[in-house]
Amino acid sequence: MAFTKHILVILVLLGIFNICNAQGLKLGFYKKTCPPAEAIVKRETARIISVAPTLAAPLLRMHLLPRILRGGCDGSVLLNSTGNNQAEKDAFPNLSLRGFGSIDRVKSAVEKKCPGVVSCADILALVARDAVSLLNGPFWPVPLGRRDGRVSNSSEALANLPPPSFNITQLKSSFASKGLSTKDLVVLSGSHTIGTSHCSSFTSRLYNFTGRGDSDPSLDSNYVAQLKRKCSATDTTTLVEMDPGSFKTFDEGYYTLVTKRRGLFTSDSALLDDGETRAYVRRQATFKGSTFLKDFAKSMVKMGKIGVLTGNQGEIRRRCAFVN
Ligand code: HEM
Ligand SMILES: *[C@@H]1O[C@H](CO)[C@@H](O)[C@H](O)[C@H]1NC(C)=O
Ligand SMILES: *[C@@H]1O[C@H](CO)[C@@H](O)[C@H](O)[C@H]1NC(C)=O
Ligand SMILES: *[C@@H]1O[C@H](CO)[C@@H](O)[C@H](O)[C@H]1NC(C)=O
Ligand SMILES: *[C@@H]1O[C@H](CO)[C@@H](O)[C@H](O)[C@H]1NC(C)=O
Ligand SMILES: *[C@@H]1O[C@H](CO)[C@@H](O)[C@H](O)[C@H]1NC(C)=O
Repeated sequence: MAFTKHILVILVLLGIFNICNAQGLKLGFYKKTCPPAEAIVKRETARIISVAPTLAAPLLRMHLLPRILRGGCDGSVLLNSTGNNQAEKDAFPNLSLRGFGSIDRVKSAVEKKCPGVVSCADILALVARDAVSLLNGPFWPVPLGRRDGRVSNSSEALANLPPPSFNITQLKSSFASKGLSTKDLVVLSGSHTIGTSHCSSFTSRLYNFTGRGDSDPSLDSNYVAQLKRKCSATDTTTLVEMDPGSFKTFDEGYYTLVTKRRGLFTSDSALLDDGETRAYVRRQATFKGSTFLKDFAKSMVKMGKIGVLTGNQGEIRRRCAFVN
């Protein structure tokens, strides 16, 4: 009897521990403390996107990339550099991390209603979701309750960002090291259906690829010619649509591009080099009942749980660019 009871207690404790550990976040986290939080974020995001639709992409990217980095799902990407510390956002002047001003605007609107309650990390997660759905992408419930970190370290960010030149092996292990699967990799890469890239992220594929004045043979040669007209070998400023013509719509178009060997980065083309990712790409590109939007929502929730601070860790930042 006593033994059975003991086992039961252990099981219950394990259960609770598990829930807290894996599900530190929950839906409706601000229901009591700031009921209008989600509505305010949605209204402000809609305002921003209606004026500047191209901001949706960087706002999505801002929520996601930090998770592939050190694991800072804690809003640290928003911090400004201080006297002796270079922040993440200053590590890559050309990373397309535009839109910090928008996050600040959303945050002040929320602060006006409920000061000191809603974290910048949660606001980032909600803005990314709302931005995607405003471009006709999927909508998903966002588990909340993230706390803001106090550190933003540019050298750590630099060491962990997967570069566009990564091959499939490198991409898979980079995602796996954050607890993300090969499916998450191919699904989340689909965010390249929106947004733009600097020429410098892919010119090595166009010019002198192997040192013999050639281009990357895994890139469609007509597309190479087209891209060369837009980007000289040394261009670091021009922006190119990643899903030309449809870069403001969140859809499956990316996968069609990849099958046509028109994925802009080596990391996009690489999705054809692995059985599982190739099958997924082809299915989304050809099959009418694409599952991409549904899959994307699921992978986003998963990614949004990586490296979060919860409970009484970290803080609720008053201004997203500064530790309190
Ligand atoms: C698989 C590894 C990935 C690599 C190597 C990669 C690489 C890149 C690069 C090089 C750019 C262009 C930056 C520039 O030159 O301006 C870019 C843009 C972008 N990436 Fe990724 N990315 C990856 C995964 C992701 C993920 C997981 C997401 C989000 C879910 C994402 C969302 C975006 C978005 C939205 C843009 C456009 C940003 C803008 O328009 O300003 N990427 N990515
Ligand atoms: C924070 O840094 C951004 C550039 O990254 C700058 O535009 C902004 O003015 C800074 N904010 C403050 C309050 O210094
Ligand atoms: C970043 O872009 C600026 C112009 O916006 C350019 O002068 C600079 O060379 C670029 N840096 C890198 C590392 O590409
Ligand atoms: C940033 O990270 C690097 C590498 O992990 C470390 O050497 C450095 O001390 C850190 N800087 C700060 C200010 O925490
Ligand atoms: C990927 O790149 C790594 C490091 O350069 C290399 O060791 C590996 O063989 C490459 N894998 C593939 C599939 O190209
Ligand atoms: C191409 O690369 C090779 C080997 O790195 C170099 O010798 C050559 O000068 C490059 N050509 C151009 C046009 O940059």
